[in-house]
Amino acid sequence: MNPLNHVAIIMDGNGRWGQKYKNSRNAGHKAGLNTVEKIIKETIKQKIKFLTLYAFSTENWKRPKKEVNYLFNLLETFLTSKVDELHKQNIKLKIIGLKKFSKRLNKLLNLSEKKTSKNKRLQLNLALNYGSKTELLNAFKSLKNNKEKINEVNLKKYLQTKNIPDPDLLIRTGNTKRLSNFLLWQLAYSEIFFEKKLWPEFSENDYNIIIKKYRNIKRNFGKI
Ligand code: FPP
Repeated sequence: MNPLNHVAIIMDGNGRWGQKYKNSRNAGHKAGLNTVEKIIKETIKQKIKFLTLYAFSTENWKRPKKEVNYLFNLLETFLTSKVDELHKQNIKLKIIGLKKFSKRLNKLLNLSEKKTSKNKRLQLNLALNYGSKTELLNAFKSLKNNKEKINEVNLKKYLQTKNIPDPDLLIRTGNTKRLSNFLLWQLAYSEIFFEKKLWPEFSENDYNIIIKKYRNIKRNFGKI
């Protein structure tokens, strides 16, 4: 049975779900947040130590302003109302991505990270304004500026996932098979599962089915 330390998820399909059932993409994001809460609980139940959720990519800024604003309001409401609960649950929150938001949101993110920084049960990484190509380019620039040797150990120091083990398992919901600029370096040896269901309809049971399949894969890491 494979150990499972880190699950990363591309939560795709909110917009389509919202459009189909509520005639509103934003309603899909709201429903997606319920799935986020369910999956966090199940991750703890499964004793998995790291969960990384792709909540907003560097490319998502190209969406209509109304949708972008809705997403950030949702995030703000979520953090304001849930950070105490996350803390009580012994969850450490970490933002990966460039924290270039409104002053108010930056402050809220920093406070939430600080408050939960010593927690040990689960590390919840929220990828916000995250893009893997930008992350890698910035890491290479740092190596060059600091005149450091280009090797894996040095490069990793400058990734936003510094001190986070690479994901063992990547799940993408929403019936789409692509990586969308997510953790391109870190996913080099991850097992990848593409799930047909849209994120708002993805259940604990669907999650556990994937985990079970993952546990039984023969992982070779290039060997035989
Ligand atoms: C992708 O679906 C989803 C997003 C860009 C946003 C993810 C946000 C949430 C799950 C809710 C908020 C989360 C937190 C942590 C506050 P899509 O909109 O691209 O779906 P589509 O492919 O059907 O258009």
